[in-house]
Amino acid sequence: MSYETITVEKSGKVAVLTINRPDKLNALSSKVHAEGVAALDELRVDDSVRVLVITGAGEKAFIAGADISEFEGQTPVTQRNAFHERSFFNSIDTFPKPVIAMVNGFCLGGGNELAMACDIRMASENARFSQPEINLGIMCGGGGTQRLPRLIGEGRAMEMALTGDMIDAATAERFGLVNHIYPSDQLEVETMKLAEKIAEKAPIALQLSKEAVKFASRSNLDEGLRREVDLFAICFSTEDKKEGVSAFLEKRKPEFKGK
Ligand code: COA
Repeated sequence: MSYETITVEKSGKVAVLTINRPDKLNALSSKVHAEGVAALDELRVDDSVRVLVITGAGEKAFIAGADISEFEGQTPVTQRNAFHERSFFNSIDTFPKPVIAMVNGFCLGGGNELAMACDIRMASENARFSQPEINLGIMCGGGGTQRLPRLIGEGRAMEMALTGDMIDAATAERFGLVNHIYPSDQLEVETMKLAEKIAEKAPIALQLSKEAVKFASRSNLDEGLRREVDLFAICFSTEDKKEGVSAFLEKRKPEFKGK
């Protein structure tokens, strides 16, 4: 399918979804949300794709937040519907394959919320992060008040949500908001290296690992440990488990098939 506000390119087992509105700093319009959800629906069932990278077009921004021009005229009901369960954020959250945010500049508001819905965040040294909604007289609505404290702790999340101040990439790395930072000209190479490394692993084990790790912040320890052992047991029903164990014993590289 072709899209107006995003592009999707495949490189081996990795798909790269780019928000493509650089003149508006890749702000998340309702069209971006709709096209993002449609693209994820396609990629979800495309067995040739094992890892997804999400980034923003241009040099300046990953995503500078929700498209503020669309806030005018929104009612509580239409705005609530825009961030419903089938939002871009939730489609990323429930995407069964690993998703890496490649944060190449401003990562603000809904942009930071979208990055946090991804599984791993890689950022350029010039990236900037904030939840600036408070400056517009509103608050986070795409998961910011829930995912940010889980990633960086309540005090730091509270300061970001209440001041709207930007933090730089080094601070974001120190806080644990991003996994790694790189000079801008190395970000893509390093992100693709990581994506390709993950893409070689067994797809079902990746999916179940992702589900288990996400469950950790959504349950208590006993429930989480029970869920983990159930998912671990499911791995023992896969062909890839046989292949992984045989390859180890035969001292060769495994060839995982996602079965
Ligand atoms: N929604 C809609 N348009 C946006 C946008 C957003 N979130 N962020 C940037 N843009 C648009 C600008 O309106 C401008 O469009 P124009 O050229 O048609 O006037 C274009 O993108 C470039 O942005 P500009 O503000 O001129 O760039 P800058 O370098 O001076 O400032 C920012 C960059 C990121 C500091 C500034 O754009 C900004 O504060 N954006 C809003 C961030 C925000 O509050 N996001 C949360 C929304 S809930």
